[in-house]
Amino acid sequence: MTTPAKASSLPSPRQLFVTTALPYANGNFHIGHIMEYIQADIWVRYQRMCGNEVNFVCADDAHGAPIMIAAQKAGVTPRAFVDNIAAGRAQYLDGFHIKFDNWSHTDSEENHVLAKEIYRDLKKAGLIETKSIEQFFDPEALEGKGMFLADRFIKGECPKCGAKDQYGDNCENCGAVYSPTDLKNPYSALSGATPVLKASEHFFFRLSDPRCVEFLEKWTQDGKLQPEVANKVKEWFSTRTNADGSTSTGLGDWDISRDAPYFGIEIPDAPGKYFYVWLDAPVGYLASLKNLLDKRGVDFKAYMANPNLEQYHFIGKDIVTFHTLFWPAMLKFSGRKTPDNIFVHGFLTVNNGEKMSKSRGTGLDPLKYLGLGMNPEWLRYYLATKLSAKNEDIDFNAEDFMLKVNSDLIGKYVNIASRTAGFISKKFDGQLAGGYEDSLQEMQIMSMFADHLSVIKKDIELRDFAKAIRLTMTLADVANSYVNDRAPWAIAKDETKRDELHIVCSFSLVLFRLLTLALKAILPITARQVEAFMKVESLNWDLADELMETKNRIASKSLLSGHAIGEYKHLMQRVDIKQLDALFEAPAVVETAPQAAPDNDSSSSTTIEPLAPEITIDDFSKIDLRIAKIVNCEAVEGSTKLLRLTLDAGEGKTRNVFSGIASHYKPADLIGKHTVMVANLAPRKMKFGISEGMVLAASSADEKSTPGIYVLEPVAGAEPGMRIR
Ligand code: MSP
Ligand code: ZN
Repeated sequence: MTTPAKASSLPSPRQLFVTTALPYANGNFHIGHIMEYIQADIWVRYQRMCGNEVNFVCADDAHGAPIMIAAQKAGVTPRAFVDNIAAGRAQYLDGFHIKFDNWSHTDSEENHVLAKEIYRDLKKAGLIETKSIEQFFDPEALEGKGMFLADRFIKGECPKCGAKDQYGDNCENCGAVYSPTDLKNPYSALSGATPVLKASEHFFFRLSDPRCVEFLEKWTQDGKLQPEVANKVKEWFSTRTNADGSTSTGLGDWDISRDAPYFGIEIPDAPGKYFYVWLDAPVGYLASLKNLLDKRGVDFKAYMANPNLEQYHFIGKDIVTFHTLFWPAMLKFSGRKTPDNIFVHGFLTVNNGEKMSKSRGTGLDPLKYLGLGMNPEWLRYYLATKLSAKNEDIDFNAEDFMLKVNSDLIGKYVNIASRTAGFISKKFDGQLAGGYEDSLQEMQIMSMFADHLSVIKKDIELRDFAKAIRLTMTLADVANSYVNDRAPWAIAKDETKRDELHIVCSFSLVLFRLLTLALKAILPITARQVEAFMKVESLNWDLADELMETKNRIASKSLLSGHAIGEYKHLMQRVDIKQLDALFEAPAVVETAPQAAPDNDSSSSTTIEPLAPEITIDDFSKIDLRIAKIVNCEAVEGSTKLLRLTLDAGEGKTRNVFSGIASHYKPADLIGKHTVMVANLAPRKMKFGISEGMVLAASSADEKSTPGIYVLEPVAGAEPGMRIR
């Protein structure tokens, strides 16, 4: 039996397994996450347009101490906390046309099973060992249950410069790197208690084992990684800075266990010991894939065993170690497939690198963007113009954004169709011409399109979207010059030039379709609209290959000769500067209420502050309000506004809270009273010390007509620690 020549010459579709990093489930997406997803989504859509088969998955990274603590503060179980965050994901993903095939979470059954399997296999390979280590322990945390403190939950004075309230691993003031035990006057960021050193047995993955070192040196330096990433990784093989500032050579072993209480996966045969979140997080890639394949009735093991399967992870530059050392080694030595590559991107900043901060309104809130009716494809396009295969930071700049979208997408791309399509429907019954196979000008342009499209295709494959777009815009310029030179609006006035008008408008639309091919992975919705209005098949990259192959004698099919199109409807709006102003406007703060005329009849002049936007009961439950007893209150030297309150909220220790009520209360007025405190407000460093909460007080926005600040006091009987619901 012979195989038909055609079938054997077609490369069988590539099989790709693609992921983005699993976001921590302790907060909503910010624009940095969205950038990563857009980058990967464009690449995946491109692969599909090449006929390749892709499984593109992600999941919430559910485990770890921060999520456990956040859940506890919110008064819900960690699972409920994670589920709540997960429920908010779709509006972002759908909103920006990010199409994962599956979204799971790392506390899933599949992940528990897979993480334990991998661990057991590593143990069998002799790569797990236990050592006793001493760590800071907070005896008061978790309502007295106590817990070991991760570096970020230990604070104190920098051993080098003496700056107060520095984290356990490095000083934000002088940049010194040290271990938590070096801090002066350490305290727990959770309870404020002084931590004690306590020994505990930890599990380690022996990355220093010669087998691991040999494998990783090869895996990271064989040319697959981006050069700047490979170079950075190389340094880790030679020298390493230890927590205490000393340096060692070679890879260090990796501490993969945490002691209870911990939200994570319990280590087999080690009660009370859990996998460190970074052990099971990447396993979540596989677990989410398995979850997807199970739903489809496809065997996960068989899928992974395919020697042609390609596995890629898109990640940011901050998590390279986990993905180029720990993760490949975990997979390799548990007898599994290792990734084919890790694609690392830089960080996104907004408006000239200002740090993203929601409260100052300088960040770019993705939901606000969508809520303002801004087109998600604008953002996809703009980010694509900035993304290359390099691991470098990129900046979202509002002016640049408006300029790029308006001049490229509207001025160059959409413009071609909007200037020519109308003539085809009005004058030629929607029928395209043809017959330019022998026309020099048109065929030269086609040949240039063929050449450029094949380069654009390669550039997208190599994730150099910026370059692909530059080339695409070069083609759009060529198409626009063609339209400008032939001026259809002018020849339309001359009946004798009817055939020429037909040709010019038809050929412009042929070019427009090819530009749409180049942009389709970036602008999937616009591309779909173009396909619909031009009544053409779903555009894919075969078309570019075909053009290249037949460059010297382009088939009339590619030239859409005689093809009937539908009615053109406007494809895309321009960015309006008002939208950008609104997007970056700081959240509304009511500073002064409308000036009411002084009036003796206070009932008629009371202006009440406008209501804040509606919230859900879930939003409200995030605020943990507690009854607190004011056990002490004193003036603050050097401040006319503040009083220092010592509050007892039944926690077995007191809190220090500063409140701007000195103009209305004398300390003696308040001592012994009960009040309401916001108990889960992040501690705030003030000039006079740290404020560990906030007391509630009523005031009018219109201080002039209704002056006064009134500290809240519960009806008698309320006890310190009671929650207000
Ligand atoms: N949970 C880990 C990843 C586990 S992967 C097995 C994590 N989560 S994260 O939510 O902090 O970050 C998720 C991804 O977003 C990471 O790839 C990170 O680099 C990326 N970004 C976070 N901030 C970013 C920017 N400002 N810009 C671009 N990407 C950024 O790390
Ligand atoms: Zn310092």
